[in-house]
Amino acid sequence: MRKPLIAANWKMHKTIPEAVDYVKRFVPAVRNAADVDILIAPPFTAISAVAGALRTAQRADIFVAAQDVFYEEKGAYTGEVSTGMIKDAGCSFAIAGHSERRQYFHETDSLVNKKARAAVRAGLGVIICVGETLEERNTGRTFDVVKRQVSEALLEFEEADFGNIVFAYEPVWAIGTGVTATPDQAEEAHVFIRSVIKEIYGGEIAGDVRILYGGSVKPENVDEIMACPDVDGALVGGASLDPESFSRLVMFKKG
Ligand code: 13P
Repeated sequence: MRKPLIAANWKMHKTIPEAVDYVKRFVPAVRNAADVDILIAPPFTAISAVAGALRTAQRADIFVAAQDVFYEEKGAYTGEVSTGMIKDAGCSFAIAGHSERRQYFHETDSLVNKKARAAVRAGLGVIICVGETLEERNTGRTFDVVKRQVSEALLEFEEADFGNIVFAYEPVWAIGTGVTATPDQAEEAHVFIRSVIKEIYGGEIAGDVRILYGGSVKPENVDEIMACPDVDGALVGGASLDPESFSRLVMFKKG
């Protein structure tokens, strides 16, 4: 069985004091959460403080993730942050290939693959993001694009790596727009992603890999999205910035 994972991607939001205050309010609000994994991806500057605040609150089981990571371990790469550095700061996960990185920073499938492999090689979990733009959907290319993104991201992985790999399907047209994919659209894409993984790595791995949905998930729609059989969690931007709202997402109601 795939354990649900509800993940907060704060993007470029929150100072260190704001992040610590969030943790203090969030932890009590999820005291009664069911059997669900929780992850928070703060900006780099707040990672250490969030990890520390979670330890203080005795919730070191809540995963801390970097929103991005570079694939080299050290060297002259001004502005980049390595897997060793994010682990040192308290991360056990990294996100790779978020559509905002692809869109604004021109990240390619091959770069996403290198980042994902570096993360897994370092013993981190990785959330690999894929998803089509509105133009790609409207011109009937959704499945071609998603298939390419998934298969290129998975180049040169071994079966044993899959314990550390999570996918997130985030249709670009649903991110930050208030427009959510319908449960049918999300389920269709998740089933497709699983079928692509099955073609490459077989049914057992494909059946075990967690695929999160991301794109305007909020308290009003989380229950119907999470009711989809192939949706194993959510990767949440806007609605994760407020601890009450994110706690409601963590406490989603099943079916
Ligand atoms: P929103 O929840 O703000 O649409 O963002 C989704 C996202 O990009 C999470 O990574």
